[in-house]
Amino acid sequence: MDISTTPAASSAAGAARIWSREDDDILVCVDVHQETHDVKTFTLACPEGKHFGFEAGQYFLFDFELGGGIESRCYSISSSPHRKNAFSITVKRVAGGKVSNWLHDTLQVGSRVKANGPLGIFARPRGTGGKLLLLSGGSGITPVMSMVRELADSCEPADIVFLHAGRSPKDLIFREELSFLAKRIKGLRLYMLPEVLAGEPSWPGLSGRISAELMALTVPDIAERTVLCCGPAPFMAAARKVVSDLGVPVSNYIEESFDAAVLDEAPPAPAEMPQVALFQVEFAKQSRKIEISGEQTILSCAKKAGVRIPSSCANGVCGTCKSKLLSGAVDMKHNGGIRQREIDAGLFLPCCSRPLSDLVIDR
Ligand code: FES
Repeated sequence: MDISTTPAASSAAGAARIWSREDDDILVCVDVHQETHDVKTFTLACPEGKHFGFEAGQYFLFDFELGGGIESRCYSISSSPHRKNAFSITVKRVAGGKVSNWLHDTLQVGSRVKANGPLGIFARPRGTGGKLLLLSGGSGITPVMSMVRELADSCEPADIVFLHAGRSPKDLIFREELSFLAKRIKGLRLYMLPEVLAGEPSWPGLSGRISAELMALTVPDIAERTVLCCGPAPFMAAARKVVSDLGVPVSNYIEESFDAAVLDEAPPAPAEMPQVALFQVEFAKQSRKIEISGEQTILSCAKKAGVRIPSSCANGVCGTCKSKLLSGAVDMKHNGGIRQREIDAGLFLPCCSRPLSDLVIDR
């Protein structure tokens, strides 16, 4: 076969065109790999062979068509930014999880999906000589794995301690690859921390949960390190407390999570309650109508009233809450989680929008 005639090969031969989040949104799955019993890696490429430019730690926001609707989810990139022609996401199957189960059961080589990205600001500080502590729990390993793979590809000097926690040894994602990389990357010290030793009683390392005692023992110079942390909310809450107790300044602690949205907006005290307009907001698919003032975000009020809208960042960044406005007007202050052409098509982000009139929303 004359490989120069394939689209990807022809762009590799000349100057590769670059994926643009404004112009491009279709990805094709080029590989599916089973990482653990309940985790798969999906590798995605641009059908026109365009290359990707991203920072290790960034993510894509996907719009998956399932169950007759669109489900939006963010997934961090797990591959190295030095691999330009395709990137990978690594997804754990969650019991009852609508999207993760659909991905595991349905997405295969050749499947096409819609995505917006790369997005996000979770990144390691640049420059040589920085001392880092990477902390990850469960599938929160993906953005920090991208960082470690980047270091392996670039041969940058590094001083990194990487602690990855999981439920049991068989749940530790990228276990073999990490063991290999720890032997190869000078300046990478690896700790894998299963909570329990189920099925592997001869586990040679530490086990349990992260604690101040364990961190003081394994990372005695923790106070001199910048900490990058990603994992489920309880893991990150524990990590935050431990690193603060051990003297890491708040400015040296950086975290990423897609389920840590803080949605509670404290209502103003009755005495200070301003005279603000109240609007009727209808959620058409759920046949619900609630009152929202012009001072409150639509997502926070919807959550409090039990109206279902998927969300992650609650800050206009990730795009997970993107919804169609069927009628009315909103004041939206987003942080990059929606494209101009989506706004022009009537979409908006309820997490960072306040009503300017009565609304009907396609949720
Ligand atoms: S929840 Fe992230 S943009 Fe709305």
